Amino acid sequence: MSENPLLEGLRLRRTPEPCALVIFGASGDLTQRKLFPALYSLAFRRLLPESFGIVGVARTEQTTKEWAAAMKKAVQEHGRDPFKQDVWSALAESMTYVATDFADDHGEDEVLEVLRSFDADRGTSGNRVYYLAVPPAAFETIVNELGERRGDDGWTRLIVEKPFGHDAASADELNRILQQWFREDEVFRIDHYLGKETVQNMLALRFANGIFEPIWNRQFIDHVQITVAESIGVEGRAGFYESAGAVRDIFQNHLLQLIALTAMEPPIDFTADSVRNEKVKVLRSLHTPGPKSVVRGQYGRGFVEGEEVPGYRNEPDVAAESTTETFVAAKLYVDNWRWADTPFYVRAGKRLARRETTIAIQFQRAPHPPFAEIAGDGLRPNVLLIHVQPDEGVSLAIGAKVPGQGMSIRTVHMDFLYGGAFRTGLPEAYERLILDAMLGDATLFTRADEVDEQWELVDSIVAAWRRDRPNFPNYEAGTWGPRSADELIHRDGRSWRRH
Ligand code: BG6
Repeated sequence: MSENPLLEGLRLRRTPEPCALVIFGASGDLTQRKLFPALYSLAFRRLLPESFGIVGVARTEQTTKEWAAAMKKAVQEHGRDPFKQDVWSALAESMTYVATDFADDHGEDEVLEVLRSFDADRGTSGNRVYYLAVPPAAFETIVNELGERRGDDGWTRLIVEKPFGHDAASADELNRILQQWFREDEVFRIDHYLGKETVQNMLALRFANGIFEPIWNRQFIDHVQITVAESIGVEGRAGFYESAGAVRDIFQNHLLQLIALTAMEPPIDFTADSVRNEKVKVLRSLHTPGPKSVVRGQYGRGFVEGEEVPGYRNEPDVAAESTTETFVAAKLYVDNWRWADTPFYVRAGKRLARRETTIAIQFQRAPHPPFAEIAGDGLRPNVLLIHVQPDEGVSLAIGAKVPGQGMSIRTVHMDFLYGGAFRTGLPEAYERLILDAMLGDATLFTRADEVDEQWELVDSIVAAWRRDRPNFPNYEAGTWGPRSADELIHRDGRSWRRH
């Protein structure tokens, strides 16, 4: 934090109105790894409302004191800021835990009781943010209970974690349940990639600079490559992952959102609806890929970062003959005026060689390179690379003259690194998203029609997969996926970026 009061005044500081935050799934993994570390960081920067309270709701039998102790440990383990007892104590003092089965009416009444006492004692003014960090099976009961007990005081907002449905039909059903009780502007569907600084920077890069937009189209761009690579495996989440796979876990949401932000038209302003109107147009223009344009894979045994790891089928709770994909790659087209015939090659997978999320915009070759014969490593096309994570930043590959006699050309990089350019560390996605929901700003959340479009594309891909049995495993852990992913792009005379 700056010590300079003048600088302080310049900072765009938004503090939400008084409110209570109710977390359903308060003893779960997400709450510990992401939500509490984020809440602590918000408290650390004094970004939480002055009048505030947190209610944790879960089935685990424990007291508020025990729950707070577990959350303190989680903050110390996963938080990005130094642990300060006074910051934590103020936060802990606002916390109450309710042990209940969600299906139990009595439990809901107890939650309401706590909320009423928050209104009276803490001044939370009837304003509520409900965070549904629960498995999909619990969703309907909670939403109905909340809807039925909805009071007239203050505002209500509902944050809904992914997965949002399993296919278009189930997502429609969830939307129907939500829309019975809540307006669309009260529903905040999480795609945590939208909360990442570098993902938002795509908007700044494109629309705060004059030099990119004129060349951001099929005339200057040869193709786009998006990689969401993880080195971790399924991490004990087989119960969920076995029925999801890479296409539902990453492609349906994070990857398609990255395409939407890369390909969208400039919105007229940055209100939630303007931005989402432009994104949904891209999602709607995505051409359904033919079976040859999508490949899937599953990891076998291998070495990741020097350590031997088991194959997917040997992970705990995974079926011995599982056909769940842990990798997906596709060639997609955005069928509109700006992008016609420009391929978007995308891939996502677990147990790949490295953790890396990048968006690479590859421009066309220089039309008449007078240096072709003398180029050191061959004249390569310019690439604008957005490093979403790690090493967050942007880099532009350009050809430069190698110093010395003659005219030899080599590719070099002009780099912008967040770490170097800004003094502050990058906030975690959940900090931004929790704060935005409290502020009622839905720009970085997915709207019902976006989710619909995303599922429709996924449904068509999955339907084609049902026809044949994949020959899994087909890539070794610690590599860049199955050979078929290379073939997918080689067929077009292109290749995946090497890392
Ligand atoms: C989640 C997926 O949405 O995103 C996980 O369910 C995945 O499987 C995670 O590991 C990746 O998020 P991040 O922020 O680490 O890239």
